[in-house]
Amino acid sequence: MFTNKPAAMKLRHDIKGIDQKILVKGNKKGKYIYFDNAASTPPLIPILKEVNDYLNWYSGVHRGTGYKSLVSSRIYDECHEIIGKFVGADLSTDTVIFVKNTTEAINKLSYRLQLKSQDIVVISAMEHHSNELPWRARAQVKYANVDNNGTLDLNHMESLLKRYHPQVKLLAVCGASNVTGHVNDVHLLAKMAHAYGCKILVDGAQLVPHQPFNMKAHSDSDHIDFLAFSGHKIYAPFGLGVLIGPRETFMSGAPEYQGGGTIKLVMKNQVFWANPPDKEEAGSPNMVGAFALARTLKYLDKLGMDKLAKHEAELTAYALEKLGDLKFLKVYGSQPRVGVISFNLKDLPHALVGAILCFEAGIGLRTGCFCAQNYVRHLLGVKEDYQQLEFYERNEIDKIPGMVRISLAPYNTREEIDHLIKWLRCIVENRYEFRRRYKFSPVHGGFIPAELIHKGYIDDVYNRYMGL
Ligand SMILES: Cc1ncc(COP(=O)(O)O)c(C=O)c1O
Repeated sequence: MFTNKPAAMKLRHDIKGIDQKILVKGNKKGKYIYFDNAASTPPLIPILKEVNDYLNWYSGVHRGTGYKSLVSSRIYDECHEIIGKFVGADLSTDTVIFVKNTTEAINKLSYRLQLKSQDIVVISAMEHHSNELPWRARAQVKYANVDNNGTLDLNHMESLLKRYHPQVKLLAVCGASNVTGHVNDVHLLAKMAHAYGCKILVDGAQLVPHQPFNMKAHSDSDHIDFLAFSGHKIYAPFGLGVLIGPRETFMSGAPEYQGGGTIKLVMKNQVFWANPPDKEEAGSPNMVGAFALARTLKYLDKLGMDKLAKHEAELTAYALEKLGDLKFLKVYGSQPRVGVISFNLKDLPHALVGAILCFEAGIGLRTGCFCAQNYVRHLLGVKEDYQQLEFYERNEIDKIPGMVRISLAPYNTREEIDHLIKWLRCIVENRYEFRRRYKFSPVHGGFIPAELIHKGYIDDVYNRYMGL
C-alpha cells in the first residue's frame, strides 16, 4: 500500500504553508488540515522561488524593445507551449489561450463558437454552474441524465446526440465532478460526439489537477477538441486559467474583449485582428500567472502525475473505507472518482458540521451545493423550491439542503483522514451539545460558537482563532 508515497511526500514537503499553525477552540494551537483542494490548492515553495527570481526580469510583454521585455515576451510565449504540452495539445493545430480561470475560459468559448439561438449544446446533469450557465445564455441546452449515484447515463447522452443531430454543436462535460469526484470517460464521450458530428469541451477544472491528461491527436476519433482548466486548482494560484482548442475556431469573428494586443491593424473604419492566442488575450497579459503555472506543470511532470494520481487514489480509497465504517454517514457518488468526497451526517446540517470541523478540529473544507445546485438537489432527492431564494437573500444557508465536501490532494495524509474520522465520530456522539453551543449567524452566513456571535466576530476569528 502507498507505493507512490515518495512523489506525494516530496509534494507535501514543497507545499507553502503546510505547517501553518492555527488556533482551535480553547486557544490551543492546532495543525491546519486542508481538505478543500477542489476549491483552490496552495502554491509550491520551489515555484515561488522561481517566480521571485524571474521577477528580476519582469517587464512588459509583446510591448517593449528593452532587454527585459524581450526575455519576458519569449518566456510568455514559451509558457503557452509548456502548458499545452502538459495536456497533450497538438500545437500545430491548437491554440492555447490564457484567461482568468475555467469560468472565463468556458464563457469565452460559448461566445467564440458563434452559436445561434436554435443551436443545441448537450451537457451532463452533473455540471458545475460554470459549465452550465454560459451555454444556457447562448444556446438551447439539453441535459444528459445522471443516475441516483450521480453517474452519467451514457445511453441517454447518446440518444440526445442522435435525436438532435445536426443541431447539436457541442457536447460539454466535466472531466471529474466537483461534487462527487466522479470521473467521466471523456475519450469515449469524444468518440460519441464526433460520431454525431459535434465537438466536445472537457471542463478539466477537477480532472487536470488529479490525473495525467491527454487531449490526443486530432486524427484520433476520441480526441478532445476543447479543454478548460484553472491554475489555482493545480498549485498555481496566480490568476491564470487556460482554454485550448483548434486555432481555426478563433480565427474568424471578433473577440469578446477588444483592445490592446488583439489587433494587427486598426483603421478608422476597419480592424484587422491578430492571430490567436493574441487576439483572445486582450490587454496586458498575466505574465506572472503564466510563468507560475508553466513552472508548476513542469514540476508536476517531473514528479510524475501518474504517481501522484495513484497515491491520491490510495488515499481516496482509504478515506472511503473509513467513512464507510461510520453508520451515521452517507457518502454520495460512485467510482471511478478523484479525491472529492461529499457526504452528510444524519440529522445534522452540513453547515454545522463544517463549522465544528473548522473551529474545533482545524479542518478546512466546504459545505453547501458547490456551485452545482441541480446536481446536488438530484443526489439529495430534493425538489426545486423557490422559497430557497428567500433563504439565500437572508443568508440563511443552514435552511438550504447541501452536503459536506472533502477534497483530497496527493499531499494529504492518512493521519489527516484519521483526524477527520475521529472528529466526525465526536460530532455525532456530542451532537446535542454542539447544537446547543453553535448558533447560526445570518450576518456571517454560517454556524459560529455562540460566544463569538457579536459584531466583532471577524476580529475575534483573526485574534483568537487564527492570529498567531
Ligand atoms: C468542475 C468545475 N468546473 C468549473 C469550475 C470553475 O472554476 P473557476 O472558479 O476556477 O473558474 C470549478 C470550480 O470549482 C469546478 O469545480
